[in-house]
Amino acid sequence: MGGIIIKNVFVVDPLKTAEGVKADGTADIFIKDGVFAGTDTADGSEVVIDGSGLKAAPGLIDLHVHLRDPGQTEKEDIITGCKAAAAGGVTQLLAMPNTKPAVDSPETVSYILEKAKDADAKVHVVGAITKGLGGHEATDIDAMYKAGISALSDDGVPVLDTSIMVKAMKKAAELGIPVTAHCEDPYLAGGKVNEGEISESLGVKGMPSAAEDAGTAREIALAESYGLPVHICHVSTATSTAMIRDAKKRGVRVTAETAPHYLMLTENELMKRDADYRMNPPLRTEKDRLAMIEALKDGTIDAIATDHAPHTPKEKSDFVNAPNGSIGMETSFAAAYTVLVKGGIMSEEELIRKMSSEPAAILGTYGGGFAKGEPADMMLYREEEWTVDPEKLHGKSKNTPFKNLTLGAKVKLTIFGGRIVFNDL
Ligand code: DOR
Repeated sequence: MGGIIIKNVFVVDPLKTAEGVKADGTADIFIKDGVFAGTDTADGSEVVIDGSGLKAAPGLIDLHVHLRDPGQTEKEDIITGCKAAAAGGVTQLLAMPNTKPAVDSPETVSYILEKAKDADAKVHVVGAITKGLGGHEATDIDAMYKAGISALSDDGVPVLDTSIMVKAMKKAAELGIPVTAHCEDPYLAGGKVNEGEISESLGVKGMPSAAEDAGTAREIALAESYGLPVHICHVSTATSTAMIRDAKKRGVRVTAETAPHYLMLTENELMKRDADYRMNPPLRTEKDRLAMIEALKDGTIDAIATDHAPHTPKEKSDFVNAPNGSIGMETSFAAAYTVLVKGGIMSEEELIRKMSSEPAAILGTYGGGFAKGEPADMMLYREEEWTVDPEKLHGKSKNTPFKNLTLGAKVKLTIFGGRIVFNDL
């Protein structure tokens, strides 16, 4: 594979692994044979990219993605989902198991990993904890692990049988892979939007914060009682952040993610009666939004993930009956940058840490920096205003809640394993 040199680029590197960084923060980044090659290894055959005016960050790692493959490839597939990833600077992603069939057997794990060999991002597969995500019958975790899973979850739904959840947490700890938890009390769940004035004025059933909070409390209790790690998915409520903060203070092995839509948008968007703003958990109140920002800032929430959930325009055309979910990989960095960096909440390095280095640590994968010899996964970006046009996005589905919003940063080029997979320079 030919090499690439990115000249004179400002390096944003939370792990401080990049070599040859000058006092002004710039460096020439050398890539050879698919890996970061340290300093001055050029032999003249490289593609040279002028990095001036651009910033280089390690490839983003998205801990929460629905690729819809197998079974719902009219919404997305492994190849198109990874093209959307590339356009958002995402070079590794964790693919959730609520496919059709669910990822509950070694055969389905192998199908995904085989197809992903040709994709523009590294796909990590999540194995289901219960068969068909039904909540009651345990899967064969060892068999799925042998086939290559990187995590366990019943994402989309909670693991109904708590004793199966505990066994999965024990097994995951033994194998050294994370359990990621969709926190929801099944008896309180099932509404369409956040429960409150907005659900009342829309005349639709609400999803109370309590549904999520009761689920979060259960997973924290399990992690604390058994001394096992758990990762909390898509946190959206102020109360859940308070519980996670408190648990972390007590030394509970809990990590957490939130998504860009909970940082930028609130339930007020739902007054448009547009199902692109409907997801589970739902957009909440301004108080909750500010709590997400605070929790990211103080380390309560470790990572930003998207919950990229493609659905077709036809499905999303019915406000009340549309399935929950919104796409997010192509806008995640831009949206998070707009709120957190342009909003003066955190530095670029802190943001990249939440979107790359921390997810790498939670998943136990490579990346999050520019270490010599590691796969050359990285992206170039710059501050630039652009307005999100769903038709210009690269995945199959267009259900973005960021449509028509002007964001303050743009991914310009993505390199995955030393290969340019997205170029908007
Ligand atoms: O909004 C959501 N969509 N939340 C989930 O938990 C599942 C996801 C999906 O698969 O569409």
